[in-house]
Amino acid sequence: MSDIPDRLETAREEIEDRLAAAADEKVLREIEISILGKKGLVQNFMRELGGLSKEEKPAAGKLINEYKQRFTQMIDARKLRLADSAMDAEIDKAALIDVTLPGSDFERGSLHPVTLVQSRLEDIFTGMGFMIADGPEAETDYFNFEALNFPPGHPAREMQDTIWLKNGMLLRTHTSPVQVRTMQRLKPPIKVIVPGRCFRFEEIDPSHENTFYQMEGLMVDKGISIANLIAVMNVLLEEVFERKLKTRLRPGYFPFVEPGFEMDMSCLICGGEGCPTCKNTGWIEILPCGMVHPNVLRHGNIDPDEYTGFAFGLGLTRLAMMKYGLSDIRVLNSGDLRVLKQFGTWEV
Ligand code: PHE
Repeated sequence: MSDIPDRLETAREEIEDRLAAAADEKVLREIEISILGKKGLVQNFMRELGGLSKEEKPAAGKLINEYKQRFTQMIDARKLRLADSAMDAEIDKAALIDVTLPGSDFERGSLHPVTLVQSRLEDIFTGMGFMIADGPEAETDYFNFEALNFPPGHPAREMQDTIWLKNGMLLRTHTSPVQVRTMQRLKPPIKVIVPGRCFRFEEIDPSHENTFYQMEGLMVDKGISIANLIAVMNVLLEEVFERKLKTRLRPGYFPFVEPGFEMDMSCLICGGEGCPTCKNTGWIEILPCGMVHPNVLRHGNIDPDEYTGFAFGLGLTRLAMMKYGLSDIRVLNSGDLRVLKQFGTWEV
């Protein structure tokens, strides 16, 4: 036979070296083409078969095919090896990460105390079938005062120091304007609460702010009485403070309710014994409320001979201070996260 066997063996050795040196898939692919491709090494050997004698041809052809298979196997083996080492490199890299190190801190936000109290109240009231309503912060004199039975020049207007706007409007001094807005929009039975921001022209000190939150409540239907008012107020306070409380009504004056009341609750600090917080009375003034004045119903297009209602105006900001034992109202509007972050989330 010719020298084909020797040359095949020499080629095999060379290929072995070239494959060993192939460091990436691109080089490997070039080698593969140069050996197995149409113009590659194996094909060149095949072409030589033409020049051999009839007797030599079969054995030589067989041998070339055997080598072709070996080359193919060698290339495949190298391919696998390269893929393996790529994987090894990945693993080595990952090994540089120390999985026992503590993770970086994940900062968690907190809800503002007023938001917490507000969400809790919204839950309580929607649970009793109340709707949540909203109204504008820049109000007209009509809704903030006149429709609430404060005629122009009425001395009761002086009870609420008002911030007037240049265009004749004002910043609402309470959430009560939404009472009439709601009555004009809906027909009884009406059950709404209105949480919202209010403004007064106040000198700021530990217990006064020019910006604070209230939550108005309004219920209008046939036969609503003071008993309904007391029942709803009691549920409200007990749910918020999560305990049984004693309450009492004292007369209170607001032009838009008749009769009007101040609801007091037994002092949370001393339980009614008397302490500095309740000024030794055992009671804390918490909820102004009353039966909706007939004139107000009329402004809401509701016939006072047919319907009655109650309303209350809860100081959300004050409630949050009491709930969380805050003694300075200014903290709440300060945006000081060090303070505000301390309040846990109330399940809402
Ligand atoms: N709007 C009153 C205030 O801010 C509170 C109030 C509301 C009183 C509803 C009675 C009924 O002072």
